[in-house]
Amino acid sequence: MSKMRAMVVPEPGGRFRMEERDLPEPGRHEVRLRVHACGVCHSDSMLVEGLMPGLSYPRIPGHEVIGAIDALGPDVEGWAVGARAGVGWFGGACGYCGHCRRGDAFACENIHGATGVTRDGGYATHMLALASALAHVPEALDAVASAPLLCAGITTFNALRNCGAKLGDLVAIHGVGGLGHLGIQFAARSGFRTVAINRGRDKEALARSLGAHDYVDSEASDSAQALQAMGGAKAIIATVTSAEAMQAISGGLGVNGTMMVIGAVGALTVNSLDLLGKRASVRGWYSGTAADSEDTLLFSQLNKIASMNEIFPLEEAQAAYDRMMSGKARFRVVLKIGS
Ligand SMILES: NC(=O)c1ccc[n+]([C@@H]2O[C@H](COP(=O)([O-])OP(=O)(O)OC[C@H]3O[C@@H](n4cnc5c(N)ncnc54)[C@H](OP(=O)(O)O)[C@@H]3O)[C@@H](O)[C@H]2O)c1
Ligand SMILES: [Zn+2]
Repeated sequence: MSKMRAMVVPEPGGRFRMEERDLPEPGRHEVRLRVHACGVCHSDSMLVEGLMPGLSYPRIPGHEVIGAIDALGPDVEGWAVGARAGVGWFGGACGYCGHCRRGDAFACENIHGATGVTRDGGYATHMLALASALAHVPEALDAVASAPLLCAGITTFNALRNCGAKLGDLVAIHGVGGLGHLGIQFAARSGFRTVAINRGRDKEALARSLGAHDYVDSEASDSAQALQAMGGAKAIIATVTSAEAMQAISGGLGVNGTMMVIGAVGALTVNSLDLLGKRASVRGWYSGTAADSEDTLLFSQLNKIASMNEIFPLEEAQAAYDRMMSGKARFRVVLKIGS
């Protein structure tokens, strides 16, 4: 039987280990993908560091996957061997059960886990995925360049299109990192007045070149006041990895404004008087379903939105992960795996 190779996490906090395994056969409603590229996301740390209760090991991380189908299990409809497909965080949120229709993909009756967390993911030459987890990938999109769109992309794209802002409204992208550098592109191309906010001036030129109309250095000035001086933000897309930084900016919301909390930062403190005085809100947001991924990929193709990536081979997954965790990557780290 043919073999696959994977970089597995052996136990919580353990170092990556290369394993050779038998190629798995897809079960009912599943496909086997030959992985072309997989992004390395900050959220992979949930598995690598064991930050969620009840996880089982060894496990293969990776939820920003683009590949091609190389085997079909029974009862898979609408997909053929050779088709390009992407897989994101949800292991198969169906999009049509009662929970999905109410917008609660975490409760999906057909979800079958989170890719790269409770199901094996894309740090591998091959992986299994439910057909309901697959997104069509336009031929024009390069796998390595586009893999981050399956998490960093869909999350910011979906947060923006659900934040309540309309054309011309002031939208702040807080954090110019892996998610933020895509968020700036989506916001600017969507017709929002886009302001990027980050520590220092290092990333200002880049943020402007990605489409930001304004830039705020959160170390040099009070970023909430800076947003108020611009009229108050209709939405803040908060992608930073620091609760203190998120708290400090919530006062920049305008009337009826919404802060979309994307960064996984734990407890947050917000000023209730400030919120109620403006009828403002703080709302959490997670990525989205396969249908949302398809929308993200198509929007990115049409508007020439791309992730800026540092590329590593599969065997160097540990170095790739460490680089991502260092916060120094510009901007996403991607494993180039096959073709
Ligand atoms: N909700 C979801 O569905 C979802 C999906 C994917 C990821 N996430 C989460 O989103 C977050 C961002 O991920 P990412 O890949 O974009 O991370 P990243 O590339 O490391 O970017 C982190 C950003 O946060 C800023 N930052 C870090 N520490 C800060 C501090 N103390 N004060 C101010 N700013 C600070 C960084 O600024 P500098 O440039 O100055 O370092 C950078 O702009 C992570 O928590 C990740 O787990 C959530
Ligand atoms: Zn992710």
